[in-house]
Amino acid sequence: MIIVGVDGSATGLQAVSWAAEEAKLRSSPLQVVHVMPRWAHTMSVDAEHAEVGAWMRDGARTVLHDAVELVRKRTPEVRVHSELLGGDPRDLLPQAAEGAEMLVVGNHGLGGFRGLLLGSVALGVSGRSAVPVVVVRDGRGERRGPVVVGVDGSAAGETALGFAFEQAALYGVELHAVRAWRRQPFDPADPERTAEVEEKRVLAVSLTPWQERYPDVKVVGLVENAHPVDALLGASADAGLLVVGSRGRGELAGLFLGSVSHALLHHAECAVAVCR
Ligand SMILES: Nc1ncnc2c1ncn2[C@@H]1O[C@H](COP(=O)(O)OP(=O)(O)OP(=O)(O)O)[C@@H](O)[C@H]1O
Ligand SMILES: [Mg+2]
Repeated sequence: MIIVGVDGSATGLQAVSWAAEEAKLRSSPLQVVHVMPRWAHTMSVDAEHAEVGAWMRDGARTVLHDAVELVRKRTPEVRVHSELLGGDPRDLLPQAAEGAEMLVVGNHGLGGFRGLLLGSVALGVSGRSAVPVVVVRDGRGERRGPVVVGVDGSAAGETALGFAFEQAALYGVELHAVRAWRRQPFDPADPERTAEVEEKRVLAVSLTPWQERYPDVKVVGLVENAHPVDALLGASADAGLLVVGSRGRGELAGLFLGSVSHALLHHAECAVAVCR
């Protein structure tokens, strides 16, 4: 099952199109979820607000109806359901996605100032969900180009690697695995540049078990002497999907989202999948 969040925005509908295509590729059912304020969702509001509540529920049902219609039109083979929930979407979307294959949202929605690159719901669900969260960027929903993954040897990075291989196999595209590291301009202790060789070895070791599992996926390993954000932005410029872990090795425990994933969610040109 694939879960997609909608809020009535055009970007939300682009997330629905992306999710519908994914559901078709995976032969999975699709669940369209809209979360509205709890007070308006529960019928038991005082008489004064009952009318507003009823009006809001009508609006919410229309949001879901439009999304389901879009799925039926674009991908009639996909089984689609809808669900209306009351509360905070940042809590309820990850909850609704428990046990699903992934949660899909747009990078922004109805509320935000258009200049913002990422809305609060998109940011709030990334790193909080047990399943991969795909943030579909407004106007960049196509799956052309390779899948790019950041490899840092962390536990979340390992989950990201598995998801990236799965997606590359599904789309039938190359997987570009990027490992970024910082080299000193000249390290007298390392005249032979053994550090670089070591980085390449570490990358190869991470990739080997996955390559055995997905022998049909063509993998390109890239070891770059750059900040991970720069390396991954560069590598993902022509990508269809960028996959990262929610937190790397250097992050503070307790943070939901590491700084690299945070920056990439804001600045990547393609859809970004965050895996925990
Ligand atoms: N109430 C909701 N119910 C379900 N999904 C939602 C809801 N709100 C947002 N989403 C999902 O999250 C995506 C991003 O919306 P988000 O709310 O983060 O951006 P925004 O409205 O531009 O910013 P903000 O709400 O922070 O002002 C939407 O495209 C949609 O997929
Ligand atoms: Mg919003």
